[in-house]
Amino acid sequence: MSTPVRGAAARGTMKQAKILIADDEAAITTGLSAILEDAGYSVDVVSDGQKALDALGAERYGVVLADLKMPKLDGLALLRDLQHRAIPTECIIITGQATVDSAVQAMQQGAYDYIEKPLNAEKLNRLKALIPKALDKYQVQQTNRELASKLEGLTHYGELTGQSEAMRSVYQVIEAVAPSTASVLILGESGTGKELVARALHQKSDRAKGPFFALNCAALPKEILENELFGHEKGAFTGSTNEKPGAFEMSSGGTIFLDEMAEMSPDIQVKLLRAIETRQVRRLGGKKEINVDIRILAATNKNLQKAIADGELREDLYYRLAVVEIDLPPLRERAQDIQLLANEFLARFAQQNGKTLTGFEDAAWDWIMSYHWPGNVRELKNAVERAVIMARGPVIGPNDIIPRHLRSGGEMPTALTIPVGATAAEARQQLVLRTFASTSGDAARTGKVLGLSEQEVRAEMIALLKGSMDGAAPRESNGASPAPSAAKSSKPAAPPARAAKKSTAKKGR
Ligand SMILES: Nc1ncnc2c1ncn2[C@@H]1O[C@H](COP(=O)(O)OP(=O)(O)OP(=O)(O)O)[C@@H](O)[C@H]1O
Ligand SMILES: [Mg+2]
Repeated sequence: MSTPVRGAAARGTMKQAKILIADDEAAITTGLSAILEDAGYSVDVVSDGQKALDALGAERYGVVLADLKMPKLDGLALLRDLQHRAIPTECIIITGQATVDSAVQAMQQGAYDYIEKPLNAEKLNRLKALIPKALDKYQVQQTNRELASKLEGLTHYGELTGQSEAMRSVYQVIEAVAPSTASVLILGESGTGKELVARALHQKSDRAKGPFFALNCAALPKEILENELFGHEKGAFTGSTNEKPGAFEMSSGGTIFLDEMAEMSPDIQVKLLRAIETRQVRRLGGKKEINVDIRILAATNKNLQKAIADGELREDLYYRLAVVEIDLPPLRERAQDIQLLANEFLARFAQQNGKTLTGFEDAAWDWIMSYHWPGNVRELKNAVERAVIMARGPVIGPNDIIPRHLRSGGEMPTALTIPVGATAAEARQQLVLRTFASTSGDAARTGKVLGLSEQEVRAEMIALLKGSMDGAAPRESNGASPAPSAAKSSKPAAPPARAAKKSTAKKGR
């Protein structure tokens, strides 16, 4: 998995990790430890490879400076043992000229770098430059390891439901960046949960007690949006008999969420950029600069590279807003979440409607799992709500849940996307699923189209339902996670279908 957090956000205020020197030459260890301690590091020294391994097993060291030739266990063997035991540290090998080849080999086996003896002033300077970089790498990986183990097995986070690899990776990024004030840009198709991610970022931050102010930039005409964002002074325009603080002022101490941010007019983009850079705003018709203490979150379902290329979005504003990007994968790429969400929505709406419903019929599940959900979680939620209202018996049948216009197998996708990193087994599963849906659930015909037996098609469907009921990742995906598309650090999401615009500004906590 790629490092989920870009930039310095993951490092935080972690205490500087210790350094271990492993060498049998006292002249070297004494000199080196004195130099490094002078530079502010805390250093331990051992005289052979075995003692180094023992020390590393007992205590955490960010960097080990290991001589290649040591008694008992040499540098290469030490490196191997560290990897076998999965002891996290970065290894810098110290080598004599005669053994440079072995040092290069050590790097191929995962050593951070090597330094050649004699350790003259030039070499020591190189070492002093290498150590902070190696410590940085160690600490970023350490933070990610801690987050990953903390969030392992999670099915819910904030108001978000989801147990797929991709959603856990989203939780991991939220957890890592929430405490900072870094701006976060949330990307994803309509209905994937961008607003819930924004709320989770607010709730998990130190600003949770402050206001959360959401503004939909697409829903408001330019003048009104400007007024909402920056406020106005009395008499700023005809009819403005009162002064009014804008969202920036009102959300000071909290978080402002700019939804559909790619829809802002060019002059508002300029003002926004200025507000982000100076952390000051001026009301319309006002002269005073007002300091604001805010964290800015933004979301869009637009293809931003295109918006920038077309001159609709300022590139400098994009970089200001996208210090960290969170990319929410579409629901159809998270089979493990579909069933979890459907069951939750069923329980919620059954309760709201005062109905006793125990679940979905198999045929309803077949459709739910195979439909491509272009409106993502919002569409699933609405479909389940409608089904709960429609249901006559104790379980939801296919006719309750499948919208009328889709019952004849009408709108079906002709192509499917499989994320890079998915296994062949997962790809096969998706293919069976979609073909099954396109034949309106005819296993025999699906088999014919795909060159499989009817039994094989049924087995695939059962495995899929079972896999997601167990809350497990799809079979055969051990280790090779289905390429979480969350937290990509570069490209924005593919151009999604335009969302049905939501109404106006919302304010809440
Ligand atoms: N992971 C999730 N768990 C539970 N509910 C979810 C999840 N994702 C989305 N929802 C629900 O789906 C609906 C749409 O979510 P949200 O408004 O956050 O999507 P969005 O990405 O902001 O969509 P749009 O681009 O249309 O604004 C909401 O009712 C939300 O509660
Ligand atoms: Mg939204």
